[in-house]
Amino acid sequence: MTWAAPAQFRGRFDDLIFCPLDLPKPPEIAVEDFVEWMKVGQDAQRVAPKLAFERVEKRTYPWLMRTMTEDLSPLAESFPDVSAYLSVFPFRKVRSVVILAQQGYQAVHTHTDSDGLYGMRFYLTAKNAEGLHFFKGRERYDRCDNYKRSPAGELLRADWDKLFVTESPVFASLPADTRAFMLNNARAAHAVSPNTCELGERIAVLVQGELDDARRDALLERSLKRFGQNAIWY
Ligand SMILES: [Fe+2]
Repeated sequence: MTWAAPAQFRGRFDDLIFCPLDLPKPPEIAVEDFVEWMKVGQDAQRVAPKLAFERVEKRTYPWLMRTMTEDLSPLAESFPDVSAYLSVFPFRKVRSVVILAQQGYQAVHTHTDSDGLYGMRFYLTAKNAEGLHFFKGRERYDRCDNYKRSPAGELLRADWDKLFVTESPVFASLPADTRAFMLNNARAAHAVSPNTCELGERIAVLVQGELDDARRDALLERSLKRFGQNAIWY
């Protein structure tokens, strides 16, 4: 199995690894209610990364996760202003939302997410946002899987040290003016340092779907003008 494919050109910001986004701030939430709501529903299909992680790493997944795919109505019904906020991201259609509340005092392992070169994110709560860091790829990849199979078919952790510059973390810094950012899963892997968050103090939301390339590029251009000093490039 080839797990890292060579890069193909997708757009003029393909080499942008991290950039704060020039978007309005997300609505404030009642954190306790939100965390309780997160515990209620699970999308069985999207639990696969959690199960793979726990099998390979032999420890508990560092997030409480709630995902919605296609049917985003649970979010719209319970937190309509959060649901409405998704429309500021440059998607023709939002297909899924992955909500990750970091478990108390957990570090987040080195990994890549499934949304490739242009991952759109925001923090509902952002304590220890400065713990996010990147390891640049030793090459430009088009996609990266977190696991590989041994010849015997056993699921193993990807060769992070071989494929990424794991000796040189590059830390992200999110200005106080925004809670939204993009990150790139093909030019870099990412992780979060051990931190002092209690559950609910750091909630990241991954917004995924069909990006509108022109709107995406316009947003990134605008964001680089405003927050270029915080951008990380390949
Ligand atoms: Fe991630």
